[in-house]
Amino acid sequence: MQQLFKSRPTDIFLASIPKSDTTWLKAMIFATLTCINNSLDQHPLNTHNPHQCVPYMEVEFAKGRNQILEVIPSPRVMNTHLPYSLSPNSIKESSCRIVYVWRDPKDVLVSMWFFAQKILGGADKMVTFDQFYEFFYQGLNSYGPTSNYVLGYWEESKRRPEKILFLKYKHILQEPVKYAKQLAHFMGCPYSETEENQNVVEQIVELCSFKILKDFDVNKYGKHMTRIDINFRNAYFFRKGEIRDWKNHMTQEMAEWLDNITKEKFKGSGLEI
Ligand code: A3P
Repeated sequence: MQQLFKSRPTDIFLASIPKSDTTWLKAMIFATLTCINNSLDQHPLNTHNPHQCVPYMEVEFAKGRNQILEVIPSPRVMNTHLPYSLSPNSIKESSCRIVYVWRDPKDVLVSMWFFAQKILGGADKMVTFDQFYEFFYQGLNSYGPTSNYVLGYWEESKRRPEKILFLKYKHILQEPVKYAKQLAHFMGCPYSETEENQNVVEQIVELCSFKILKDFDVNKYGKHMTRIDINFRNAYFFRKGEIRDWKNHMTQEMAEWLDNITKEKFKGSGLEI
């Protein structure tokens, strides 16, 4: 991918650690770019899972289907779970834009734990939550230690704010309309005054909200395939959609240990949990 992928200046990439809310941001980015052509009650998100609307780059390359990415008309939207340091140079060097979404690692851990159970077919196929926590604590989770990962994007977003928009899940959850507008502005397609007066932003936020998306038939009963040909049920991507669910699954002490690592790594960076 590093050698073959050629970024276009108009490309938009969504980058995140898995379970940071990629699904929501895929929906928001896709809806923002396509709302002009679609009335929202007939929008493709009513019948397509967000992961079907925005391709996952590494998977397309792993499946040898990277040509698919070449034929997407501009502006292309793709997602990646690669750390910034491993992104193709073509992405780093072009004037394409990256939206990064960050989530409290404690909630990422809990979300990963439930997701892994669903993929593997039950809790009995998994290590215990305490063992999973221990692996995560040591950075032995997919895509590696989360603090190192996020700092790559954070530092670059400070250096090049026009290239990387750094968002936090908890902020979007609290003020979705504000962040939907910021997202549109960053992608170069700000909402017009007429659209704002017609409450288009609020409607897009509603369409992409957890409670609406999760109840579409495609997200209740549909499936889509990924790299290792596991059938991912679309429903796996919608669990609780809340912050601080970690409180229901780990002790205060476990939370503090994890926070301490994160705070230590973030020291001096300006990034806070
Ligand atoms: P939980 O497991 O904590 O509920 P990803 O999309 O990166 O795989 O992350 C999945 C997490 O995002 C899950 O978190 C899921 O419920 C949450 N999520 C998915 N769609 C969402 C939406 N529209 N709004 C808020 N959260 C959403």
